[in-house]
Amino acid sequence: MAQPEDAFKAVISHAKEYGFIFQSSEIYDGLSAVYDYGQNGVMLKNNLKSYWWRSMVQLQENIVGLDSAIFMHPSVWKASGHVDAFNDPLIDNKDSKKRYRADVLVEDHVEKLKQKADKEVAKAAKRFGESFDAEMYRSTNPRVMGYLSKAKDVMDQFVACLEAEDLEGVKQVIIDAGIKCPVSGSDKWTDVRQFNLMFGTKMGSVAEGAVDLYLRPETAQGIFVNFLNVQKTGRMKIPFGIAQIGKAFRNEIVARQFIFRMREFEQMEMQFFVKPGTEMEWYNHWKQVRLQWHLAMGLSEDNYRFHDHDKMAHYANAAADIEFQFPFGFKELEGIHSRTDFDLKSHEEHSGKKLRVFDPETKENYVPYVVETSVGLDRLFLSVLSESLVEEPLEKGGNRTLLKLPYALAPTQAAILPLLKKDGLPELARQLMKDLTFDYQMAYDEKDAIGKRYRRHDAIGTPLCFTVDHQSLEDGTVTMRDRDSMSQERIPSSDLGLHIKQQCGMESLLKKL
Ligand code: GAP
Repeated sequence: MAQPEDAFKAVISHAKEYGFIFQSSEIYDGLSAVYDYGQNGVMLKNNLKSYWWRSMVQLQENIVGLDSAIFMHPSVWKASGHVDAFNDPLIDNKDSKKRYRADVLVEDHVEKLKQKADKEVAKAAKRFGESFDAEMYRSTNPRVMGYLSKAKDVMDQFVACLEAEDLEGVKQVIIDAGIKCPVSGSDKWTDVRQFNLMFGTKMGSVAEGAVDLYLRPETAQGIFVNFLNVQKTGRMKIPFGIAQIGKAFRNEIVARQFIFRMREFEQMEMQFFVKPGTEMEWYNHWKQVRLQWHLAMGLSEDNYRFHDHDKMAHYANAAADIEFQFPFGFKELEGIHSRTDFDLKSHEEHSGKKLRVFDPETKENYVPYVVETSVGLDRLFLSVLSESLVEEPLEKGGNRTLLKLPYALAPTQAAILPLLKKDGLPELARQLMKDLTFDYQMAYDEKDAIGKRYRRHDAIGTPLCFTVDHQSLEDGTVTMRDRDSMSQERIPSSDLGLHIKQQCGMESLLKKL
């Protein structure tokens, strides 16, 4: 089995080789943590957006969409708390001169301790065989307990220091835990400093008259400041939601792991406005709905788990992540936050405008509470891509590279392949293709032997290939080849659209929700 690092490298090189993702400005040696989506990447990304939008807006009577501007009034970010609190604690190693996020250093250290404990348990499981009780071993074996309690202590101390904004304490936790620089191996650390993650820019023609702006670090604030516009013009009644897909920008310090942590990325966020006191009910509702949304794609269930937060963001009273098992381990894919009335109240204070709704029962105006679901589109892309890429052994020997994307999300839904480049086969193939392109994303491919063409489409995840041969000219049938099973059957060419719709239509995913 491939090592996780090798599997991850394979995903990155596949993404480039097959036109999914390119490094931004590559001909100038690239721009760090910024990526472009190629011809297949943009299609997969658009399909993911469509799956999210249709499930969150089209299928929900009480959720509407929005597309707010990236530039916003600078006071928005003061009110949201991002100017004062959207910081990462940074630390430098004096020997390697490398800069790290203190929380990432500590989290990685804690993860290693947990992995050591897991290894001990796995070793014992081998030794004791079937009668082995892993839970019992975890809670009684001194070595395992030692690793786990060390992990917990380090994390508890770290969270306590962060909450108390005690940066000296954070440094001390790193030193006491014996955390070393992964590059130099030394523990000579600088003091910890806070670094604001927002990108600044200016609006205006002359430097003196220019206004300082930020590129938005989340799309959510565009929803909050439009809350009353949408509520009034849409005559929305609580509970209701506003959904938005858009770019966000963060000056990430440790930008790494490909498109997992980028400086320019896309979010798909939904703010659900509820009556105060009902927020925990809705929070639990959306946790389950969002997990089900991921599971409906049909990737392995074992790759998803919830992580409930101990330390909340400045705006939340409950928060959980849906984590996904990326090739480099379980990491946050989506956040579900109960944001209280923090944002709307704060915008009321800073703007002087009331952001309230009328309660017909109590005959009073109130500021709604908010439950948010927020998933990074690029992280979602990485989760689907990394889970779908497999090397599959073939019965006749050798392997095929297969991108087992959910059929409804594939960049190309079906390919039309004339068996030969002569005898009128290309003409018939083109004719079939012409009718289908109005409704489906099709590809026409006549170069190379048919087997090679199937492999090319396996590698980009095309679910169906239709081969036009001499029999097609006689009886109007074509061969339909299924990507995953590689099975082939002859079908009337008049049914191609029907097969594509049934097997690759987005409805197949949406109906599972
Ligand atoms: N409005 C809430 C919010 O922005 P967040 O947990 O900071 O919460 C939400 O971000 C999601 O956005 C994350 O779960 C992740 O999927 C994605 N995300 C955050 N920072 C990212 C980055 N630098 N690169 C790619 N995706 C990112």
